[in-house]
Amino acid sequence: MKFVGKVKLLKKQIINEENFSFIIERKNEMGLVLPGQFFNLSATKVGYPMLKRPISVSEVGENTIEFTIKIIGAGTKAMLDYNEGESIELVGPLGNGFEYYGYRKILVIGGGIGIAPLKGLINSLKKETVEIHSVLGYRDVPYIYEDFKARSEKIEIMSENDDRYRIGYVTEPVASLLEKNSYDMIYVCGPHPMLRSLTDLFNSKGIRAQLLMEEKMACGIGACLVCTCKTKSGDFGFKHSRMCKDGPMFYSDEVIFDE
Ligand SMILES: Cc1cc2nc3c(=O)[nH]c(=O)nc-3n(C[C@H](O)[C@H](O)[C@H](O)COP(=O)(O)OP(=O)(O)OC[C@H]3O[C@@H](n4cnc5c(N)ncnc54)[C@H](O)[C@@H]3O)c2cc1C
Ligand code: FES
Repeated sequence: MKFVGKVKLLKKQIINEENFSFIIERKNEMGLVLPGQFFNLSATKVGYPMLKRPISVSEVGENTIEFTIKIIGAGTKAMLDYNEGESIELVGPLGNGFEYYGYRKILVIGGGIGIAPLKGLINSLKKETVEIHSVLGYRDVPYIYEDFKARSEKIEIMSENDDRYRIGYVTEPVASLLEKNSYDMIYVCGPHPMLRSLTDLFNSKGIRAQLLMEEKMACGIGACLVCTCKTKSGDFGFKHSRMCKDGPMFYSDEVIFDE
C-alpha cells in the first residue's frame, strides 16, 4: 500500500550541524512500514525544489514514523524549514526493505547516515530472540549510536578523525568478527565504497548480506529508470535493476559494482 498525501510533522530535532530528525504521524493508509523502506518527501512548503527526496525510515512506531536526515544540498537544507505542526507532502512506503526470517544472531554494519535505517531495524527486533553485533563507522564525531549501544551484545564504533574512538574503516573490525563468529544474516547500509569493499569481503568468504543501496532518484516508483544498478542475471550476465522498486535492499551476491 502506498500513501500519497500530507502528514503532520510532530517533532523536529537537531542532532548536530549536519543532521536532524523528523517524527511524523503514521497514517493507517500507509499499511505495513518495514525497516529499510523509504518515503519520498517533499523538500519544501513552497514547491521548489520540485522533486521529492528519498529518505529511509529510521524508526517505525505505532502511530509515528521517524526520519533521520543529513543536509547534503538544496532539498535536504530546505527541509529544515518545516516547523512542528506543519504538514509535509510525501509518498510511501516505497521499496522492498530488509528481510528478516527469525534470525538468532545478526551483524549490522553502518556508515554515516546509512546507520539511520539500521536503527529502525534493530529496534524492531525482540531482545530475547536475537543477538546483535554492530559495527558503526563515521567520518568525524559519532552520532545516533545510543540505541546500538543499548541493544548490541558487541559493538565497535569507528571514526576516521575522532581519536576518542578506534580510528579506521569498518572493514577491519568486520573482518575479525567474521573470523570468530557465524551470523545468520548481515545487514549493511552506508556509502558506496564501503558497500563495495564489504561485498568483496563477503564474496571471498561465500557469505551473503543484505545491502541497502542508494542512488540518485527521481520518480521513486520504478517509472523513470534514473536509479538503476547492475544485478546478476540471465544470458548476458547482468540486468539493470531499479533501486527504488526492485530494491533498495539487494543481496550482496546479486549486485555488480561498477568501478
Ligand atoms: C533509498 C534511499 C534512502 C535514503 N535515505 C536517506 C536517509 O535516511 N537519510 C538521509 O539523509 N539521506 C537519505 N538518502 C539520500 C538522500 O535522498 C539525498 O541525500 C537527498 O536526496 C539529497 O538531496 P539534496 O537536494 O539535499 O541534494 P542535491 O545533491 O542538491 O540533490 C540534487 C538531486 O539529486 C538527488 N540526490 C542527490 N543525492 C542523492 C542520493 N544520495 N540519493 C538519492 N538521490 C540523491 C536529489 O533527490 C535531487 O533530485 C537516501 C537515498 C535513497 C536513494
Ligand atoms: S527513481 Fe524512477 S525508476 Fe527509480
